[in-house]
Amino acid sequence: MSIPSFGLGTFRLKGQTVIDSVRNALDVGYRAIDTAQIYGNEADIGQAIAESGVPRSSLFLTTKIWIDNLSPAKLIPSLRESLAKLRTDHVDLTLIHWPSPGGAVPLAETLQALSEAKAQGLTRQIGVSNFTIPLLREAIALAGREQIATNQVEISPYLQNRKLAAFAREQGVHLTSYMTLAYGKAVQDPVLKTIAERHKATPAQVALAWALQQGYSVIPSSTRRENLQSNLKAAELRLSDEDMAAIAALDRNERLASPEGIAPQWD
Ligand SMILES: NC(=O)c1ccc[n+]([C@@H]2O[C@H](COP(=O)([O-])OP(=O)(O)OC[C@H]3O[C@@H](n4cnc5c(N)ncnc54)[C@H](OP(=O)(O)O)[C@@H]3O)[C@@H](O)[C@H]2O)c1
Repeated sequence: MSIPSFGLGTFRLKGQTVIDSVRNALDVGYRAIDTAQIYGNEADIGQAIAESGVPRSSLFLTTKIWIDNLSPAKLIPSLRESLAKLRTDHVDLTLIHWPSPGGAVPLAETLQALSEAKAQGLTRQIGVSNFTIPLLREAIALAGREQIATNQVEISPYLQNRKLAAFAREQGVHLTSYMTLAYGKAVQDPVLKTIAERHKATPAQVALAWALQQGYSVIPSSTRRENLQSNLKAAELRLSDEDMAAIAALDRNERLASPEGIAPQWD
C-alpha cells in the first residue's frame, strides 16, 4: 500500500465552496481527497463525491481524528460518524490530526484504537500528523514503522523541516507536505517566479514540484478550477539541481500552522 503523491486539500472550505472545489478537482483528474473531522466538511465532500459519479474504488480518502476523539472509547465511534458523512464504509487513510495535547491520551491507546479500526476494515491505512521527531520515534516504537503510512506535516519553501525530514528518511517513514504553497504566499515569491518563467510553469507548480521531487506527497487546496488543473501538472515538471538549491535557500523556519494549546514543541 502507498499514499498517492497528489491529493486535494480541503481545510477552511465548507458548504458550496468545498462542493464546487471537490467537483472541479474530480473533473480535472484528482482522485485523492484530504479532509478532517475538525474541518466540518466531511458531509459536503460526501455529497460532492456522490454527485460526481466517480466510483468509490478509484478514490483515496483521508480523514483525521480530532484531539477530542483520541481516546479508545471515542476514536472508532467518531470514525464511524466520519464514514457516514463521507457516505462510505471505509476511508483509505486515517491520521491522528495532532498529538494529544500534553499527552492527555497516551499515544499507545490511540494507536491501538486506530489499529482496531483498521482490523475492522474502517480504514485501509493509518498514520500521524504534526508529529515531531520524539513523537514519531514513539509511534514507531509502539506500532512499528510499517504501520505508519505517513506523517503529514507543514513543509513549504519557507519551512523545510529538515531535521524531521532527515529522521523520517532514515526511518523510512513517508512524509506528506501540507501548506506546500504556504497558503498561497509562495506564489508571490520572486525566486519561485524566476524558476517558473524558465520552465514556462507557474510558481505554484514550482513549489509543488520541489516537494514532489523530495518524495513528499502534496495536497494543495484551491477554490479555482484553473488553479486545481494547473497545480496537478506540477507532477510533470522536472526541476534542476540548481533550481532545487535556490529553493532550499528560501528556508526561514516560517511556520503557519501552530495552534496555541495544541501544537507540540516543534523540532
Ligand atoms: N494536518 C494538518 O494539521 C493540516 C494543517 C493545514 C493544512 N492541512 C491540509 O493541507 C491542505 C493544504 O493546505 P492549505 O489549503 O492550508 O494551503 P495551501 O495549499 O498551501 O494554499 C492554498 C491557497 O493557495 C491558493 N492557491 C492554490 N493554487 C494556487 C495557484 N495555482 N495560484 C495561486 N494561488 C493558488 C489558494 O487560493 P485559491 O483558492 O484562490 O486558488 C489558497 O488560498 C489543506 O487544505 C488541508 O487539507 C493539514
